[in-house]
Amino acid sequence: MGRFAGKVAIVTGGSAGIGAAVVARLASEGAKVLIADIQPPAATTDSIVFMHTDVASPEAVATLVEACRQKWGQIDILVNSAGIGALAETPDMSEELWDKVFDINIKAIFLFCKYAIPVMRANGGAILNIASISGQGGDYGMGAYNASKGAVINYTRSLALDCARDGIRVNALCPGLIETAMTELTVARPEDRAAWLSPIPLARMGKPEEMANVIAFLCSDEASYMTGSIVTADGGITAHTGQPNVPYRRKLREQQA
Ligand SMILES: NC(=O)c1ccc[n+]([C@@H]2O[C@H](COP(=O)([O-])OP(=O)(O)OC[C@H]3O[C@@H](n4cnc5c(N)ncnc54)[C@H](O)[C@@H]3O)[C@@H](O)[C@H]2O)c1
Repeated sequence: MGRFAGKVAIVTGGSAGIGAAVVARLASEGAKVLIADIQPPAATTDSIVFMHTDVASPEAVATLVEACRQKWGQIDILVNSAGIGALAETPDMSEELWDKVFDINIKAIFLFCKYAIPVMRANGGAILNIASISGQGGDYGMGAYNASKGAVINYTRSLALDCARDGIRVNALCPGLIETAMTELTVARPEDRAAWLSPIPLARMGKPEEMANVIAFLCSDEASYMTGSIVTADGGITAHTGQPNVPYRRKLREQQA
């Protein structure tokens, strides 16, 4: 039996990418997992169940949480992974896209917490919100995404305060550049890939499983004294100022001479 034996988890966006890796990890360590997504997962089992759920729909979220309570009687873990990106400078950003980014990336977290926390209060538990390093700083052409992920980070802190006395810990993970459908097109052209990789000290993209490792830890009893924490897993991008790697460039020049 693993760390999550006897636990029940809801994972939004659990059909693909980081969410799917979290589902696999939690289930492999004993959890029953309900996936809330608009697309079905690659596979379901007795302990991995899928319910078609648009996380931006209050009715759909309330229905899924109630279905989970009726099916398994409890909710111990909530991982909010569903999210979308959007690339547009402000004058070119439509109101519709701005609202969609906010509905999915931050309002959905409010909705899941609103309906799940009353159920989670019975036993305590853990909530994990996936924010982004894009919530810690700005990116060119990503105003809506930056603002929504910044909101996820500070909402996580508020939730942590409000839930502490219920024994529910709330933390956020800020991934860097991770190999999923969300980033597939971004790095499809070799010159774009090189530009995205150049500021990453570990010089590679992260894998969804590497995010699931951190998320499983944060949702487990091993992280019992962590709440309101904003944890970064980004290959080191946010450790530096953005100025160039002078010793590395010097070494390259010497090799070319
Ligand atoms: N991939 C990265 O580099 C990266 C970096 C930082 C943060 N993140 C964040 O991690 C989270 C997961 O991203 P990912 O890379 O796994 O993306 P992904 O596109 O691979 O998976 C996202 C999942 O969310 C689901 N989803 C989208 N809209 C939904 C909706 N309205 N209702 C229900 N489900 C919906 C999709 O169907 C998909 O299964 C997101 O919040 C994202 O912003 C990703």
